[in-house]
Amino acid sequence: MANFIKPLDNSLSYELFGIKFKNPVWTASGCFSYGLEVAQNLFDISKLGAVVVKGLSYKPRTGNPPQRIVETPSGMLNSIGLQNPGVEYFAKNILPKLKEYDTVIVANVFGEDEEEYLKVGEYLNKTEGVDILELNVSCPNVKKGGLAFGSDPDTLYSLVSKLKEVVEKPLLVKLSPNITNILDTAQASVEAGADGLVLINTLLGMAIDVEKEQPILATKTGGLSGPAILPIAVRMIYQVYERYGTEIPIIGVGGISNTEDALQHILAGALAVQIGTALFFDPYSPLKIIEGLENHINRKGYKHILELVGKAHKLKLES
Ligand code: SIN
Repeated sequence: MANFIKPLDNSLSYELFGIKFKNPVWTASGCFSYGLEVAQNLFDISKLGAVVVKGLSYKPRTGNPPQRIVETPSGMLNSIGLQNPGVEYFAKNILPKLKEYDTVIVANVFGEDEEEYLKVGEYLNKTEGVDILELNVSCPNVKKGGLAFGSDPDTLYSLVSKLKEVVEKPLLVKLSPNITNILDTAQASVEAGADGLVLINTLLGMAIDVEKEQPILATKTGGLSGPAILPIAVRMIYQVYERYGTEIPIIGVGGISNTEDALQHILAGALAVQIGTALFFDPYSPLKIIEGLENHINRKGYKHILELVGKAHKLKLES
């Protein structure tokens, strides 16, 4: 087993980067706001493995004009434009409340340019209560930053290396599927010193209103998420695990709505999974998946969830 991970007593819990996770089920950035609405109205978010907060920039952002969301077959297109109150407001007004819950806090880091990414990274590195940084180089809905950094391996390598010089906390890189070969950006991130990879962000898509005869989203295009993208996420995780095995932690995100979907990510090579769009139609889905994973490993006679990570690679076809 890789040295960055250590199983703990409970069948779903482990230590990753020296941080204790109760289970491998996290909420995905942008689909759970900052966690407080659910914590105050629905359930105790201490039950979650981790909460990944909405992308944070240095200055507040109002985001894109409406319409910003469209439901599509088995999915959703969004073009929020990384609306957020800025990293300082988050640290002073939101984080203190979020810290009252006993879960791991992952901050999603965004910048319009290298300078802003570094400022946000440095700020969050010093912010007590933020455990892990997730680098957003994959948002397809902004003119500057986001995908512009995550689609070119050299630009990505430069940004991740510079961040690694100023950030001591674990740095995960959230990769975009909007490229020809996911291994190119995975490699750039690994060589630049990323502590983990998060796969995948949304796929660039479009929906057209046939009465108005024009694109529905104000920005014309948006990021496709939801069940429609599950097989793409599973394939990309599988490819990256096939190349790197246990050399680098992979966190799976993309199309997970239930335990089976989560298991597909895990069997492909993910150490943890993030639940995103499913939260819109079932905010309790992470809890159901935690219970489902526990039942699955008991039923199959495993001792620990880590026994399943990457297991789909172990089957050799008889010739
Ligand atoms: C958005 O805010 O537009 C979506 C964020 C993302 O895709 O990373």
